Amino acid sequence: MKIGILGATGAVGRQMLECIEERNIEADEIRLLASARSAGRTMKYKGEELVIQEANEHSFEGLDYVLGAVSNAFSKQFLPYIKASGAVYIDNSSAFRLEDDVPLVVPEINGEDALKHHGVIANPNCSTIITMMAVAPIARISPITKITATTFQAVSGAGIGGLQELNAQVSAIHEGREVTASVFPQQIAFNCIAEIGSYNDNGYTTEEMKMQNEGRKILHLPDLKVTCTCVRVPVYRSHSISASVVTETKVTPDQARQAIAAAEGTKLVEDHVPSPLETSNQDIVYVGRIREDLCEENGLALWCCGDQIRKGAAANAVQIMEYLLSH
Ligand SMILES: NC(=O)c1ccc[n+]([C@@H]2O[C@H](COP(=O)([O-])OP(=O)(O)OC[C@H]3O[C@@H](n4cnc5c(N)ncnc54)[C@H](OP(=O)(O)O)[C@@H]3O)[C@@H](O)[C@H]2O)c1
Repeated sequence: MKIGILGATGAVGRQMLECIEERNIEADEIRLLASARSAGRTMKYKGEELVIQEANEHSFEGLDYVLGAVSNAFSKQFLPYIKASGAVYIDNSSAFRLEDDVPLVVPEINGEDALKHHGVIANPNCSTIITMMAVAPIARISPITKITATTFQAVSGAGIGGLQELNAQVSAIHEGREVTASVFPQQIAFNCIAEIGSYNDNGYTTEEMKMQNEGRKILHLPDLKVTCTCVRVPVYRSHSISASVVTETKVTPDQARQAIAAAEGTKLVEDHVPSPLETSNQDIVYVGRIREDLCEENGLALWCCGDQIRKGAAANAVQIMEYLLSH
């Protein structure tokens, strides 16, 4: 059992290594791969220092699984070498998510799709995973036809560079220096920015369309319609989503609460309102404020929060690998 992490030094890659250790996955080798900038540095795993290697065409030889935590461009660049090695590639980028022969998997919802892979399995978009974890228990009672969602996305969703930019801007403001922005399109410190991704012709961003396109594939609901607004907020980690869900037949708030409370990987929270701080650094999606939608006959409104580096990326990818190993 040999596992490679491509992009091991990034926000997601680091978390993958931690998740493998936490979940006690037996591995004969963990190979840490990143850019030439990181080669020779080390990362701790089970008390040992593992040396990071520069990823190249030979890096994947002998591996059984490669967990991908690099950009779309690098994911596409390395895929031919991963395929040639025979390893299964579980990718966190959006490069292959909508391809017909690439399963898009959240193990608690559609784990069995992973078994139909042809060498590549995609991890869905982070806000999409967290939202789908909250609404899938409702969809199991009655199929969902429409979702209207607003996301509140943490800066670490843009990688380590996003965290650094928030910290640098807060310091600059406190010290009276000029604030500069490069990762985000405007100042994110003490602000929120309703613009994540690039614009499509329909006025929605690429990030916003993922909720519909990927939600359809995960829930096996090809006609699902989603209107989504994605907002970046000055929160370190854990994304939150306000969602209104319309079902084919009426689902009462109590039915939804029971289903969410019973579902694997979600926690029903009724004694207070879940928050990103509370849900940081753990794998469960918290769901609260479940109530009737006042605009829709068969509608429910809810609020959910989940750590997007863990359940929205690293932990979900590691769970996919575990699913394959156990089936
Ligand atoms: N952050 C999230 O919450 C999140 C959630 C879901 C999905 N994702 C997706 O996961 C992927 C990784 O995101 P991230 O947030 O972890 O990004 P990140 O923190 O910016 O890390 C990027 C990683 O890519 C590596 N890299 C850069 N150039 C490379 C090269 N030439 N060869 C090999 N590796 C190279 C970097 O290595 P160096 O350190 O050596 O530069 C680093 O390990 C992206 O596709 C992202 O969209 C992220």
